[in-house]
Amino acid sequence: MRILITAGPTREPIDPVRYISNRSSGKMGYSIAEAALENGHEVILIAGPVNWAAPAVSEFISVESAREMYDAVAERITGCDAAVFCAAVSDYRVAKVAPEKIKKTGDHLTLVLEKTEDILGSCRSVFRFKGVLMGFAAETGNLIANAKDKLTRKGCDFIVANDVSRKDIGFDQDQNEVIIFGADGTHKALPIEEKRVIGKELVKRLEAAHQNR
Ligand code: PMT
Repeated sequence: MRILITAGPTREPIDPVRYISNRSSGKMGYSIAEAALENGHEVILIAGPVNWAAPAVSEFISVESAREMYDAVAERITGCDAAVFCAAVSDYRVAKVAPEKIKKTGDHLTLVLEKTEDILGSCRSVFRFKGVLMGFAAETGNLIANAKDKLTRKGCDFIVANDVSRKDIGFDQDQNEVIIFGADGTHKALPIEEKRVIGKELVKRLEAAHQNR
């Protein structure tokens, strides 16, 4: 298969020296990329700013913002057999990026934010992607309900849900604990495991779904 994978955080600029971002390290997405490579797949990895050397993928694209990630996906998703959206994409960006460093003036500063592109949510409706689609759900509450909502709303074959309120898994940890929800109504809870082990399990799901198409 040719598999597109997004990983890591995005950075949305506030001014030339500041940005909005999150604690994603890219470990989960990179683990999926490595597992896919081990199984002989062609991998396109699109990653926000992370501190790891990219694995030996067919194509590696380094991006900063949600808009750049959207454009990189839009350009490459056609022709892919599967796509995995593991990146922690900022849902909002600053509406007007200041051209100069913002000076400290009053006691408060108000930033107006606007929605970013929903990259995963555009796969079916905008990019007309027909391959196997796997998204993630990073939740701090109502894990199951929120994950199921994302599964249907974003047209996924799978949603991989993780509880990011926990300190031992999720963001910037070597381990994760996930529940994989399928569009066929099935779900599978995996025990807490190294992210590279979970990566292998997720790639197996993609392979099976691709074969059954
Ligand atoms: O990188 P690590 O430190 O290893 O941490 C891993 C992780 C916690 C980041 C990962 O396991 C994870 O949960 N990734 C998804 C993070 C996220 O943004 O989840 P969400 O529930 O906010 O978004 C739902 C889905 O829509 C995700 O597949 C996301 O990539 C996608 N999305 C979200 C917003 C947006 N504008 N575009 C998107 O494509």
